Amino acid sequence: MALLDRLGAWLVAHGHADANDFDAPPALEIDDMPFVDIASEGQPDPEEAEPEPEPEVPEWEFPPIEAGVPTEAIAVVAPKGGQGKTTIAINLATGLAEVAPNSVVLVDADLQFGDITAALALSPDRTIVDAVADAAADELVLKTTLTHHEDGFFVVASAASPELGDQVPPAALAQLIDRLRSTFRYVIIDTTPGLGEHTLVTLEHVTDAVFVTNMGVPSLRAMRTEFELLRKLGLMPGNRHVVVNQTDKNSGLTIKDVENIIGTPIDVEVPKSSAVLLASNRGVPLIHDDVRDPAAKAIRSIVLRIAPAAFPKRTKIQRRRRSNEPE
Ligand SMILES: Nc1ncnc2c1ncn2[C@@H]1O[C@H](COP(=O)(O)OP(=O)(O)OP(=O)(O)O)[C@@H](O)[C@H]1O
Ligand SMILES: [Mg+2]
Repeated sequence: MALLDRLGAWLVAHGHADANDFDAPPALEIDDMPFVDIASEGQPDPEEAEPEPEPEVPEWEFPPIEAGVPTEAIAVVAPKGGQGKTTIAINLATGLAEVAPNSVVLVDADLQFGDITAALALSPDRTIVDAVADAAADELVLKTTLTHHEDGFFVVASAASPELGDQVPPAALAQLIDRLRSTFRYVIIDTTPGLGEHTLVTLEHVTDAVFVTNMGVPSLRAMRTEFELLRKLGLMPGNRHVVVNQTDKNSGLTIKDVENIIGTPIDVEVPKSSAVLLASNRGVPLIHDDVRDPAAKAIRSIVLRIAPAAFPKRTKIQRRRRSNEPE
């Protein structure tokens, strides 16, 4: 300190400083002191922090279910692959959406290789994996996992890969069906071929099942076995609709033969038609793509079995212009 005093005296004496340059600075009032919050130093300012993203609210209305109106869940099943389950499920959803617009949901429970979004040219942001996740326990979050189709129904898309689809437990699928039934008038479930665990729990949680087979003897025999097994397990849903798809006069079998092999009457015959593949490749439901097509008319009769009010409204259902037709 003495050294500093001597240095100060020397600077004043030689005109390099004034004596008051060395006065002590006035004490700072408490209010003038800069505030340093040690606890939150290095932490982001809560006012500047990114706000929590609000769950996206879909822009479509989910019409409330009227009190006393029963909701229905319809599984579309087949013991073998490639019989037409997805075709029928998509067109059922489309037809039922005419009776209950935006109160129909189509669940792609073909967990490994579901193809509903491809057949409808939809690009889903979320899938069934999100719909059964813990976060979707919230009603609003569950709704954000659905993909809307312009014909007035929603889709629960299948998983993005077979590995992800495999992670959906059967009980979670059952719970999803029950939850969707509290929001939608009609829940339609497209399934994996055969009677795996997911299809069995689905059958336990539906009001109706549409059984689909083609006219091949192996498929018909498998259908008979499936019926016997479901009866034995007590899993035959209350309402059963037996559909023979891709009927063909040249199959060598009559419908009577088909009924004898299956051991039960046929409810609906859907003829083979090139319009089915065309509609799928165009990403448009058949019954709206080509209203006059015989397969479309037959599938509409399945819709009528479930919802007798679903008469085609000519003003609403116009045959859509094919891509190669002039405007
Ligand atoms: N009535 C029909 N006439 C002509 N082709 C049809 C008919 N029904 C379905 N198809 C065709 O048969 C193929 C299988 O149909 P779809 O995908 O609906 O069957 P699936 O039972 O869902 O098959 P998967 O078991 O692979 O899921 C498709 O190419 C479809 O276009
Ligand atoms: Mg399918």
